[in-house]
Amino acid sequence: MTDESGRGGEAEPLKDGEAEGGVTKEKSCAGKLGLSHLTGWRTAAFLLSIFLCLAVIFAFSFILPCPVRPQYVSTWNRTVPDAATFDFLAVEDANEDKVLDVFFIYRDADASRNTCLNADLSVPCLVLTAVDGTNGKSLWKRALSAEFDWVECGVKGLGHKGSGCLVAHADNLTAVDKKTGQIMWQHSRSTLMHGNLPLISVPDLNSDGKEDFAVLSYNPDALSFTPTPTELVFFSGKSGDQLGSRVNVDVNGVFAHLHFKTASGASYLLLLTDSGLYAVSLGRLAALAKPGFESALKKEKSWEELSDIHTGFISLYQSGFLKRVLAVQGSNPPSLLIQTDSSVSLLQTDKLKTAWTTNTSTLLSEPTFGQFDKDGIPDIMIEEDAGNQTKRVMVLSGHSGVVLWEVSLLFWPPSPRPASVLTLNTYSVFMLWGQTNQTSQMQSSFLLHPRYSKLLLERRKSSQNIVSFKATLLERGRHASYLVLTGPDGRRHTDDSEPVILTKRKIKKDVEESEVYGVTADELISQDAEDSVREAFHRLRFSEIQ
Ligand SMILES: *[C@@H]1O[C@H](CO)[C@@H](O)[C@H](O)[C@H]1NC(C)=O
Ligand SMILES: *[C@@H]1O[C@H](CO)[C@@H](O)[C@H](O)[C@H]1NC(C)=O
Ligand SMILES: *[C@@H]1O[C@H](CO)[C@@H](O)[C@H](O)[C@H]1NC(C)=O
Ligand SMILES: *[C@@H]1O[C@H](CO)[C@@H](O)[C@H](O)[C@H]1NC(C)=O
Ligand SMILES: *[C@@H]1O[C@H](CO)[C@@H](O)[C@H](O)[C@H]1NC(C)=O
Repeated sequence: MTDESGRGGEAEPLKDGEAEGGVTKEKSCAGKLGLSHLTGWRTAAFLLSIFLCLAVIFAFSFILPCPVRPQYVSTWNRTVPDAATFDFLAVEDANEDKVLDVFFIYRDADASRNTCLNADLSVPCLVLTAVDGTNGKSLWKRALSAEFDWVECGVKGLGHKGSGCLVAHADNLTAVDKKTGQIMWQHSRSTLMHGNLPLISVPDLNSDGKEDFAVLSYNPDALSFTPTPTELVFFSGKSGDQLGSRVNVDVNGVFAHLHFKTASGASYLLLLTDSGLYAVSLGRLAALAKPGFESALKKEKSWEELSDIHTGFISLYQSGFLKRVLAVQGSNPPSLLIQTDSSVSLLQTDKLKTAWTTNTSTLLSEPTFGQFDKDGIPDIMIEEDAGNQTKRVMVLSGHSGVVLWEVSLLFWPPSPRPASVLTLNTYSVFMLWGQTNQTSQMQSSFLLHPRYSKLLLERRKSSQNIVSFKATLLERGRHASYLVLTGPDGRRHTDDSEPVILTKRKIKKDVEESEVYGVTADELISQDAEDSVREAFHRLRFSEIQ
């Protein structure tokens, strides 16, 4: 009854009081008053909602400007004549346009003469620079005294906002603001000559409102005649001042390290030594630097139960042939990939158990993680040296370590390591380098789509000395690109007589400019298969920045 009269009122609002009213009058006079009241309210609500809709439409079309999506050039390059560069590429948003910008460093005598002299530096000097990710234009340049040791960008606590770059060069440690390129602080690193990357970021230890960091000092060259103690030194991100005292990390034969966070967020320092892999809680080391520092750093209970009572060290993996340890990107619970002379293994860090081990020959490059199969567990791309200037590129299942895919390619060192970019379809596309023609010196990049894995898209390039390579998204969920830095390698060459070129290319742009290459050599490639793999690449939608 209520429903019906309500509907009638909306359909024929004028009739309500007259004809219909006459018939229903006697049925219920009391109910009638309440109902017409309700109808009035409905009409008012209806008009109000129309008004609100129009107001919103009006506001969005005329008053509020649409969010401007940054326009980008699909391919750009930046050339520095007569310079030398280093294996370093970082992407960070420097100019706050939501597109990541590119940081690289070079040594230059000529083109940057004024840049060096203006900064009161002798020539040649180092130039750390940021270029706009959208078009390759220079955002800032920072001249620094040579010699170059290392640089890391994205270091939290440095700079006015967010993060900055830390450069170890000549006798100094210099913090550079990522937005302006200004020097935030500069300190002598005389006590830290053996400081090694990666930096260990820690929460704000000295309560100055900025994150802090630590540097681990050791001599990775095991044959050195003057043994260097392994020491950890904490620094203030804001001022660069040393925090607390130096901590002696009492373990022999350290040649590499990494900072690892367990599933519960506990921070551990992992040490690769000539007898195996060890972990020690960062909180324990921080407390040795200054009592109280440990309060911001959690410990993992199950790990601590296994630690040595006196030293706090936890033995994670014993091997005299350890080469490299990587935290598996995107694995849950977090796991570690352990590479030795002749194998790779996956260590599950929650149970501290080895899930699988796969035998390999010498690996040519650092393994790359990406989703190849459909199980959601990150898979691993490795490059094995097969002798005779041939490499075998393989994808190992992250679940079982079995070989899911492989291809043999020619290569001439140095050949950049593979890269991957995650798509929205939960698989990654992979990019690798190699040669397919024995007689030509052309270097090719290859794109691999896991759902069309019998084919690769090959793009031939003239042979260049690639010093650094990175594939990444430059914006959230879009703008999948790769960066190639070519030129003389500053660590090997002393004469800087060739151009250093940074090139950015959109990955999808390579699809049109490439040829199809069959993974198994004698396979016939139909036009249909070729079209469908190109089409699959064009359809790709990318996931978040990893
Ligand atoms: C750099 O870009 C310009 C135009 O954008 C192009 O003409 C030139 O060939 C490019 N250089 C290299 C080395 O790719
Ligand atoms: C090191 O830093 C100090 C302090 O800023 C500065 O005076 C000195 O010139 C720097 N030395 C070099 C070689 O850059
Ligand atoms: C891997 O290498 C080890 C030691 O050389 C050997 O015992 C084992 O059988 C190998 N496994 C496979 C699957 O080849
Ligand atoms: C290396 O490759 C060349 C050309 O394919 C071949 O002639 C030669 O026999 C190979 N050598 C070895 C040791 O496999
Ligand atoms: C390999 O390169 C040489 C020299 O550039 C060329 O003559 C030859 O046709 C190429 N071979 C193939 C299979 O592409």
